[in-house]
Amino acid sequence: MVLLHAFPLTASMWSPQRAALSEAGWRAITPDLRGFGGTALEESEPSLDAVADDIVAMLDSRRVTEPVILGGLSMGGYVAMAFMRRHPERVAALVLADTKAAADSPEAAANRERIAAAVVEADSSLLLVDELLPKLVGATTKERRPLVMGRVKALIETARPAAVAWAQRAMAARPDSRESLAQVGVPTLVVVGEEDEISSPAEAEEIAAAVPGARLVRIPASGHLTAVETPEEFNAALLAFLATL
Ligand code: MLT
Repeated sequence: MVLLHAFPLTASMWSPQRAALSEAGWRAITPDLRGFGGTALEESEPSLDAVADDIVAMLDSRRVTEPVILGGLSMGGYVAMAFMRRHPERVAALVLADTKAAADSPEAAANRERIAAAVVEADSSLLLVDELLPKLVGATTKERRPLVMGRVKALIETARPAAVAWAQRAMAARPDSRESLAQVGVPTLVVVGEEDEISSPAEAEEIAAAVPGARLVRIPASGHLTAVETPEEFNAALLAFLATL
């Protein structure tokens, strides 16, 4: 199982899933996406297609040639959808968590460009702590889970400005995936936190309705980062899905 992380975090967001998957006998591969965590940011046109191709190259380098179960949360979900468009033969099943199929509105794309320019200008990603952190986690986490808040904040603080800018521009350039979702021919799980302010439950319902046979799990008292905020519930949904494959 390959799990793709959210913006602007790193693969370490998946540590509770790695533990649960390995206990259940699955091999988990959780790469840092281009520019995040330990990976280099190559000079190239910002594009999530390039990130999807990075994942294929990583699988090839590990000699994983059989189809994988591919999961992504938020930006990771956008990359998973790009991967499905470009390399459908490499995917055996799909997990799309707290993500959306529609492209950015012009306003959303302009806001990403503002953030990209600002973090590069300031040579710091700290503005994301003020602007994004309050939306990344749900109301319940803000009230009752200070350790989760601290963990997410620490991950945001490590994000390099150049990677933040590149990823924002890549997300702004992503196409609408709604039509291609109808072509998905593998078992699909859609997960959403009921308090998700970035990718709403309605947007998750749209994905689940578009993918033939998809199942949708809504997690109560969880925001945009379900896998981090409520790992037990997320893992239960994931393992129940994997058990059906
Ligand atoms: C994420 O969590 O990956 C981002 O918030 C996604 C986005 O900005 O659309």
